[in-house]
Amino acid sequence: MDGVFITFEGIEGAGKTTQSRILCEALTAEGFPCLLTSEPGGTPLGNMIKNILTNTQYNDMTPLAELFLFSASRAQHVECIIRPSLEEGKIVICDRYSDASIAYQSFGRGLPLNLVYETNSTASWNVRPDITFFVDVEPAKGLSRVSNRLQELEIPADRIEKENLEFFERVREGYHYVSREEPIRVRILDGNLGVQELHKIVLDIIHKELIKRKFKKGLLFNP
Ligand SMILES: Nc1ncnc2c1ncn2[C@@H]1O[C@H](COP(=O)(O)OP(=O)(O)OP(=O)(O)O)[C@@H](O)[C@H]1O
Ligand SMILES: [Mg+2]
Repeated sequence: MDGVFITFEGIEGAGKTTQSRILCEALTAEGFPCLLTSEPGGTPLGNMIKNILTNTQYNDMTPLAELFLFSASRAQHVECIIRPSLEEGKIVICDRYSDASIAYQSFGRGLPLNLVYETNSTASWNVRPDITFFVDVEPAKGLSRVSNRLQELEIPADRIEKENLEFFERVREGYHYVSREEPIRVRILDGNLGVQELHKIVLDIIHKELIKRKFKKGLLFNP
């Protein structure tokens, strides 16, 4: 596939949506065909599944049911949006993807790691990100950013945002595990940095990746 697949990961309030948006704006302004999308969701069916996943009525949702709902959303998203866009040569930026299932459903909820890895490969047809940014913040900080946002918008916390600090500590550890397993793909960013400071780091990494790809294709002589 000719495109580049970039994902943003991290706990609630880390700054994923902020960074994915401004990265997409910057790359679009530079003339790159860019698609910004997110999980769960990204398709009409995925958005329906997101409504179920976030609905506080379903507090009895089992970890396995939760894994399969996220996976169903991902399967639809990959086949209908992500893979076709990559095949068209686009830069696809996705706000959360398979690593979130490792962090939340395995480390957070306690499902066996191999089950989540296997389910991820099936649901994603093995479409893997080229680069993943793990925006890392302390759960207390991320959650306080989220609660400020919820207060401003006057909306209640969703089913996952209502989880306790210990849950998000485990999720964060899950993301650190993924980063240790695949240090080349997964870049850890300090989510305490300012929005523009983080953006500069992200853009610099992406520019280097794009130059490397052009060089590999013989379009550039000096990477
Ligand atoms: N680097 C940053 N420094 C300070 N505040 C930030 C930073 N990045 C984002 N914010 C603010 O923190 C809040 C959460 O940011 P954002 O929505 O990007 O996080 P998120 O990781 O997408 O959260 P969620 O998991 O809830 O979707 C927003 O109000 C945003 O303006
Ligand atoms: Mg977000």
